[in-house]
Amino acid sequence: MTTISRPRAGAVPRANLPEAFIYDEWYVAAWAEEITRAPMRRIILDEPIVFYRKVDGTATALIDRCVHRAYPLSVGALDGDKIVCGYHGFVYDAGGACVLVPGQSTVPRSAAVRAFPLVERGPFVWIWMGDPERADASTVPELPWIHDGAWHHIKDLATIKARYALLVDNLMDLSHETFIHGATIGSMDIVETPTTTETDGNIVRVGRHMEGAEIPANFKRYTGLTDGTIDRWQDIEYHVPACYTLHIRVAPRGAGDDQAFFTKIVYALTPETKHSTHLIRLISKSFGHNQPEWVASTISRAHTQVLEEDRVALELLEENLPADGHWQELSVNFDRGGLQWRRVFRQRLGQQSEANETIE
Ligand code: FES
Ligand SMILES: [Fe+2]
Repeated sequence: MTTISRPRAGAVPRANLPEAFIYDEWYVAAWAEEITRAPMRRIILDEPIVFYRKVDGTATALIDRCVHRAYPLSVGALDGDKIVCGYHGFVYDAGGACVLVPGQSTVPRSAAVRAFPLVERGPFVWIWMGDPERADASTVPELPWIHDGAWHHIKDLATIKARYALLVDNLMDLSHETFIHGATIGSMDIVETPTTTETDGNIVRVGRHMEGAEIPANFKRYTGLTDGTIDRWQDIEYHVPACYTLHIRVAPRGAGDDQAFFTKIVYALTPETKHSTHLIRLISKSFGHNQPEWVASTISRAHTQVLEEDRVALELLEENLPADGHWQELSVNFDRGGLQWRRVFRQRLGQQSEANETIE
């Protein structure tokens, strides 16, 4: 029997996936090396932003829309620490104040573009998209291994045509690996092993420890473990909303840490628009640092392949969602993590400063 569910007359159903942005948060805006003396444009939370470095190397972020006639500043030119609009020559300082209007001796008092607080930590540049008064650098998530030269680090960045919440749902429920990634990292162990879930303030943790699991194709290639079974752990720590980390341990069944292969992946999730998301990914390996070419040719390619499998699925999902964002959804056991992040996210939406208030 099919049950058809329709909202009651007058009832406005809430979208299944949160659609609003959390503004009062640090998001990864870029890799440190992307911000140079050449202005760089990136859209973040629906805002066009221009990034550049001042002469002393400090990174700067301004709205990429001239206060005069909205021309993008990113196609203008730098003059020392200042940026000159390429349309009619308004000049802005690195704090966003307009300091010169060609052809007149005064600058209108309201002539300024918004500047965004930035924090540079290791390879990441984080941007605060909310009320600048609330920007507190001590709340940038601590990720100590990203500074550790004993790990081998691989970076990539993809902009996926799918809403942010779809990426989080995908990452919080790794049982999809069995199916979406069946040819690369999936096996039946994932979907068959129950998870543990806990919430600690703004952090949601999901753990899945598989003992005596099958060795998936990609793992065979880069661990050299081809016989028998493995212990495979996946421990997720998601700092809602912008920073998801996955800690992976793979070892021959019953072996200790000395024989284990560790991988840590930071997925920085930065909405571009309501329907697209920047995925900025740092993959760190406890192995392979003596074989950079092998890492580049084997591990990087393997991770790119997995990301491509997710990208295809996520973009199909985005196209498949009803326009009002509401449909009859069914959740099962392995959705616990997926439901918890939505709850924490909605709580945080309710705590936004009034200036950023967005109604879902
Ligand atoms: S649009 Fe920038 S100076 Fe006119
Ligand atoms: Fe995936």
